[in-house]
Amino acid sequence: MIQLKDKTFEVFLSQQEILNRIETVANQINEDYKQKFPLFIAILNGAFMFASDLVKNITLPCNITFVKVASYQAMQSSGTVKSLIGLPENIANRDVIILEDIVDTGITMDQILNDLLQKKPASVEVATLLLKPEALQKKVELKYVGFEIPDKFVVGYGLDYDGLGRNLPDLYVLKEEVYSL
Ligand code: IMP
Repeated sequence: MIQLKDKTFEVFLSQQEILNRIETVANQINEDYKQKFPLFIAILNGAFMFASDLVKNITLPCNITFVKVASYQAMQSSGTVKSLIGLPENIANRDVIILEDIVDTGITMDQILNDLLQKKPASVEVATLLLKPEALQKKVELKYVGFEIPDKFVVGYGLDYDGLGRNLPDLYVLKEEVYSL
């Protein structure tokens, strides 16, 4: 168990479990994009570890770039999504694969997809490490999903709680408080 500020978290997925699953997802991408030259766009900050471990298993010629979108404050989705920062201009006719840490409400991914599609890529698919199916509010197509998880707050492996915990190699879930009278 770990303590970050006022919250206690417990291990939910070990680094090894995460890496095993990422290898499977990467192999699927290698298969699906044979003869292609994909452009991976990783969403900072949260996806940096996922992107790093995924692309190490990609055997295709590829480009990797990073963009930023700030839409989340502490433990609640603010609902206001800012536009993408650092999106390359030359994505027309490219086969784009977005790398995201987690899809929660789907609002961020919906916005990202809308922004990207305006640049006329040949195709866009999403690879997200985590998905909270119960929290989804937008219909977004997610071709590659690492793990479907319950609608609970998680940290570690790139994800943060108020800026903390991104460095943790395992993924942790918020420990439920037990209230007694
Ligand atoms: P969405 O727009 O609600 O899908 O939120 C997506 C973004 O919210 C992710 O890229 C994360 O940065 C953040 N987020 C959502 N759920 C969690 C969580 O459980 N832990 C940490 N960050 C989260």
